[in-house]
Amino acid sequence: MRLHDSDVTPKALFLSRRELIAGAVALAAVGCEGGSDATAAAPAGAPLKATPNPAYKWPDPPTKVEAATTYNNFYEFGVDKEDPARLAHTLKPRPWHVQVDGLCAKPATFDIDTILGLAPLEERIYSLRCVEAWSMVIPWIGYPLAALLKKVEPRPGAKYVEFTTLKDPAQFPGQRPGLFGSSLDWPYTEGLRLDEAMHPLTLLTVGMYGQVLPNQNGAPVRVVIPWKYGFKSAKSLVRIRLTDAEPKCSWNKAAPQEYGFYSNVNPSVDHPRWSQATERRIGEFRRRPTQMFNGYGDQVASLYTGLDLKKNY
Ligand code: MTE
Repeated sequence: MRLHDSDVTPKALFLSRRELIAGAVALAAVGCEGGSDATAAAPAGAPLKATPNPAYKWPDPPTKVEAATTYNNFYEFGVDKEDPARLAHTLKPRPWHVQVDGLCAKPATFDIDTILGLAPLEERIYSLRCVEAWSMVIPWIGYPLAALLKKVEPRPGAKYVEFTTLKDPAQFPGQRPGLFGSSLDWPYTEGLRLDEAMHPLTLLTVGMYGQVLPNQNGAPVRVVIPWKYGFKSAKSLVRIRLTDAEPKCSWNKAAPQEYGFYSNVNPSVDHPRWSQATERRIGEFRRRPTQMFNGYGDQVASLYTGLDLKKNY
């Protein structure tokens, strides 16, 4: 199955984001054991056991797995939605390590198998809202990022968390100079405030649709932050750093007036070049209204009490 950008997003809109890169930037799971040895060495696409968490369901049916794994944003593989599925075989998700360091008492480097077994794996059905005004409903597998952060014991001075994706042009053709015109400043980095990172909704993610995470969706480990635009949910992580200063984030560096640090889903704050009031659910034809905080306001609104969400977009 192949979706075209024009099926889901006005052409001018998706072109404009690609042009920004090329020009302006010129820049179901079953069981309940959690991560077991049986799953530890599983390749992308292999079954992954997880316990469905009934607290995180979504009223609409999940997006078809074929769509969620063929219509992707992963600029390390190219700027077209079908590039990641076509090219992601070059990514080697094992062996893999994630360095967790910065302002913490016990910095450590975790092997991916250790990460898989660090906390019980849950299945959570979340809505994913891309800044490009399309959305999907995805059953992810993982556990709260807080479980990993607690292991390294953040120091009182830690106020933010920075996420870094692997930089390796041999595995990521989109990182090779000149291949897709000028591109983002690699490696891809993202960030959250520490309280956002510790929020129970913030998911350290190792699978989807009952399977080990496919390469194009960010194997072997990514974050998913469902109340923020999708670009905050960085893929294929190699480093998670606690810091006292707001991290520099890839899209924010490329176009700060368009992609803010917070990037909370907000239907009343338009992107400078398009409305955020509605979205197109992949697989559907009619647009639907976008919800404040992507529908998670009851859980996260209190994080932003007193903050001007128009200024802090
Ligand atoms: N992470 C990295 N490293 N590189 C990217 O290009 N794209 C982001 C985010 N994480 C991106 C990334 C964007 S724009 C979106 S919408 C989501 O990944 C898409 O996740 P999905 O392909 O699993 O649906």
